[in-house]
Amino acid sequence: MNEDQTYDVLIVGSGAAGLSLALALAADQRVAVLSKGPLSETATYYAQGGVSAVMDHADSIDSHIEDTLTAGAGLCHRDAVEFIVRHGRERIEWLIAQGVPFSTRTSRSGVVEFHLTREGGHSHRRVVHAADATGRAIEETLVERVREHPNIALLESHMAIDLVTTAKLGIAPDRCVGAYVFDLDARQVRTLGARTVVLATGGAGKAYLYTSNPDVATGDGIAMAWRAGCAIANMEFVQFHPTCLYHPHAKTLLLTEALRGEGGTLVLGSGERFMPRYDSRAELAPRDIVARAIDHEMKRFGLDCVYLDISHKPRDFILEHFPNAHAQCLAYGIDITRDPIPVVPAAHYLCGGIVTDLDGRTTLPGLFAIGEAACTGLHGANRMASNSLLECLVMADACAHAVRAVLAANAATPAIPAWDESQVTDADEEVVVSHNWDELRRLMWDYVGIVRTTKRLERARRRIELLRAEISEFYGNFRVSGDLIELRNLVQVAELIIRSAMKRRESRGLHYTLDYPLTDDAKYCRDTILRAGDFS
Ligand code: FAD
Ligand code: SIN
Repeated sequence: MNEDQTYDVLIVGSGAAGLSLALALAADQRVAVLSKGPLSETATYYAQGGVSAVMDHADSIDSHIEDTLTAGAGLCHRDAVEFIVRHGRERIEWLIAQGVPFSTRTSRSGVVEFHLTREGGHSHRRVVHAADATGRAIEETLVERVREHPNIALLESHMAIDLVTTAKLGIAPDRCVGAYVFDLDARQVRTLGARTVVLATGGAGKAYLYTSNPDVATGDGIAMAWRAGCAIANMEFVQFHPTCLYHPHAKTLLLTEALRGEGGTLVLGSGERFMPRYDSRAELAPRDIVARAIDHEMKRFGLDCVYLDISHKPRDFILEHFPNAHAQCLAYGIDITRDPIPVVPAAHYLCGGIVTDLDGRTTLPGLFAIGEAACTGLHGANRMASNSLLECLVMADACAHAVRAVLAANAATPAIPAWDESQVTDADEEVVVSHNWDELRRLMWDYVGIVRTTKRLERARRRIELLRAEISEFYGNFRVSGDLIELRNLVQVAELIIRSAMKRRESRGLHYTLDYPLTDDAKYCRDTILRAGDFS
């Protein structure tokens, strides 16, 4: 057993949200940042398109707000949208000060300015980017900054298992005071005390068989918060990105929406363009519409994929703006300057998550959540492209102020008992874990995907309950492993998605069900909120 340690702030997650927060706090607080793998293995690293912010005088804050509200299909919280959009430019300037090399262009009058690209739902060019690897530029820069900071302890290969709350210790009133953490290298559980804990654990794309997300996206923060009694909202709104590479050897390769923003079209094998039949904004309609249209075309003709074609643009233009997409596709024998790219939709982003206010406070004192794990009300029923990194950055900054206020008032943390392994043994059959991982991801893909029905959701609920019981028994009897911890979280998050989807008997934004194909504002123009005790 490693010695217990106590920090002022324990940040679980090292993406844009977690690292920005660490940097904002480290001047005067002792901060620890946990990551499951290497620090930079995050969804942030793989972000391509960019960060949305109003940077051009022809654009306006009001327009960014309106576009976000429109994409969110009636469920965005206006205060969250206004707050986050208004702070966009300032956060981009902060990133530049950290050293992020965003793409620029020289205007006709010789002025060097940011090159702004365009994505679905945006009525202006307002996406600041670093070619087509924006996330990599941001993550690498922030990792460099945190590595230089003496007040930031970086605990890589450390997976938080569960939050420690005073309620669990038999002390009232309830607050979060730390976490049990599995050191994946030493294969030991450590007990970390903290005066405040911040979940910046990202999304849960791994709940689905096909996803653009990296392996770390298993919804751990949401599951931990749920088990600690926090309110969770809007889990039915899972965003499917319309264009991921379809290739037998490609695991997850997203083809950025900016390809469509710069003129790429979606076509069938015959070359027929189909998006104008679905929406006047064609390829630049919000993602839910584009993903559903692709799904419909694929089902209608029994197709394996559709095609994204940008080959009509000049080769030099493509190489300048999309060097990574070009190189990555070329590795699979596809030259995007000449060939249409085979694409399919894949699970991409979770709009729901841990309910927070605009300081990142959850419903459990001492616990904050920011980034994709949180639900601030910005995205409503559908996130607009490039609004996620924006939210990570703005909320990290807001959260830093609120965390400082809590630290000023918080008492010291109580003693936390060590992790008890006296009742468990080594697992006898690892196949239970691997089998259940596969089953869970396939059932979510088949029954809780882009197009849902009540019958499919019912089927999914029955199966997920069995899986949850089996995994819970396994967890109670055997020593933890990384795969088991993640599976336990994924099954919990999958259940939250299914339960939320069953509560919404209408179609709105990313939640589309054949049994209730219309939007029902009278009954459902509200968040779906789940609380402990809503189901066992
Ligand atoms: P992440 O960046 O995902 O980081 C999560 C961190 O939490 C990781 O460090 C992980 O190890 C850690 N973690 C998780 N669980 C635990 C645990 N139990 N213990 C310890 N650590 C844990 N958004 C945009 O706005 N613009 C884009 O262009 C864009 N492109 C995208 C492209 C791709 C391929 C993907 C997958 C997403 C894209 N998104 C984009 C979405 C955006 O990247 C993410 O929503 C955002 O990066 C999430 O940041 P985050 O800091 O919340 O979490
Ligand atoms: C993309 O580049 O298409 C992803 C943008 C996003 O998810 O916001």
